[in-house]
Amino acid sequence: MDKFVIKGGNALHGKVRVSGSKNGSLPILFGSLLVPGPLLLKGVPTRLRDIKTTLNILRELGAQIEERDQQVAIEVPTEGPVTATHELVSKMRASISSFGPLLARRGEAVVSLPGGCNIGDRPIDLHIQGMEALGAEVRYENGYIHARGPLRGGRVYLAGPMGPTVLGTQNVMMAAAGAEGVSIIEGAACEPEVCGTAKFLRAIGVVVEGDGSPTIRIEGVGQDGFANLGGVSFEMPPDRIEAGSYMIAGAAAGGQVTVENCRPNENMALISILQKIGVPVEIGEDSVTVTGVDKVSPIDVATLAYPGFPTDLQGPLMALLCKTEGVSLITEKIFPDRFTHLSELRRFGAKVRKEGSTAIIEGGSKLQGAEVMASDLRASACLVIAGLMAEGETHVNRVYHLQRGYEDMDKKLRSLGGDVQCIDEAALEKQE
Ligand code: EPU
Repeated sequence: MDKFVIKGGNALHGKVRVSGSKNGSLPILFGSLLVPGPLLLKGVPTRLRDIKTTLNILRELGAQIEERDQQVAIEVPTEGPVTATHELVSKMRASISSFGPLLARRGEAVVSLPGGCNIGDRPIDLHIQGMEALGAEVRYENGYIHARGPLRGGRVYLAGPMGPTVLGTQNVMMAAAGAEGVSIIEGAACEPEVCGTAKFLRAIGVVVEGDGSPTIRIEGVGQDGFANLGGVSFEMPPDRIEAGSYMIAGAAAGGQVTVENCRPNENMALISILQKIGVPVEIGEDSVTVTGVDKVSPIDVATLAYPGFPTDLQGPLMALLCKTEGVSLITEKIFPDRFTHLSELRRFGAKVRKEGSTAIIEGGSKLQGAEVMASDLRASACLVIAGLMAEGETHVNRVYHLQRGYEDMDKKLRSLGGDVQCIDEAALEKQE
């Protein structure tokens, strides 16, 4: 199992290029199930574990896939298996995104229930509610959801007690694309990744309007319309969460970092927080430059649906806030239990605690290198940033979580001057 060994204290300097978006690519890769003709997807972060898992699920579903660095060519026959098995779905919750397109194209979908994960309870009731509103018959059997079409256009409401659902919106959009007639999704998520899925659907020939707002209108092509879809080449958007993570790393480690190949407008919630706490930020057309400072001011923030501050940057921001002179608060309003990094941060000497879904960060004490355990993707990024800030050596164990969503983070940080090595512990043990 890989771990990161970080010698803290080096300021980061230079330029770092953001990869294609993980959360943008996953639903679009599953969206290939809708398309009979050849599809060429570019800018796919193919070295990520989640992308590899997705391609394996698609292969199990009968897709022909050719993969070169950052490019994936896919062809999916109409007839084929309809089951996404537990073995693969349990590795990655986003596999639920196979549900909508499978049901639309093959008239049936059998998908393992994803279960909980390290960031808390993650129900899929809204996905099911959406499919049922499009006419699917859904039943549960032995841990699997079985759904049958035919799908017809319908009116769907997708906001739950914690607000809209991102993957739920994308899943229902892809199902609606293959339904007979027009569908209206109300309470839709407005995240840029939803707009990415809409752009992809338009590229393959589906009429989609209103994405980026809470009301999305989709003209379904119906069972006979699939033959007309496809034959396109599509470029994935850059990863706004990876971009934000490097902005925070630059601010935390000191020095000056330019994050290239990003869309600054998609990171305005973070940029505004950085500016408020006293981090100089320069916004370019497709880049953001952040200058690290010794001390930052405390802040009170909450994670919210887009355009609010994203939950996926909550962990990384918490590491930076350990630098503040004073007490900061971060309230988690999307995944109230997403705080596994908190107790690990304490191992660095950070003064952090939790009351309900609010983390209280008393800044000001210098972090010390420590042996810590990554428990989920964004928690891992938090620990790596803390390791860069800390005095002495940090070992971040189980970085396979990190490798699910950050391409070559060790190399990218090294190129900025960070002392970060990725060590294969199993190989080391064999040598000894
Ligand atoms: N929710 C329900 N019912 C549902 C679905 C969601 O109550 O049927 C609740 C969730 O429990 C949560 C809230 O709604 O409280 C929002 O969850 P959402 O469905 O939007 O999350 P998701 O679509 O499963 C995606 C990202 C996550 C990101 C969230 C929120 C992908 C593959 N995943 O998850 O990314 O945190 O949106 O922005 O796009 C990550 O990359 O590390 C990650 C976890």
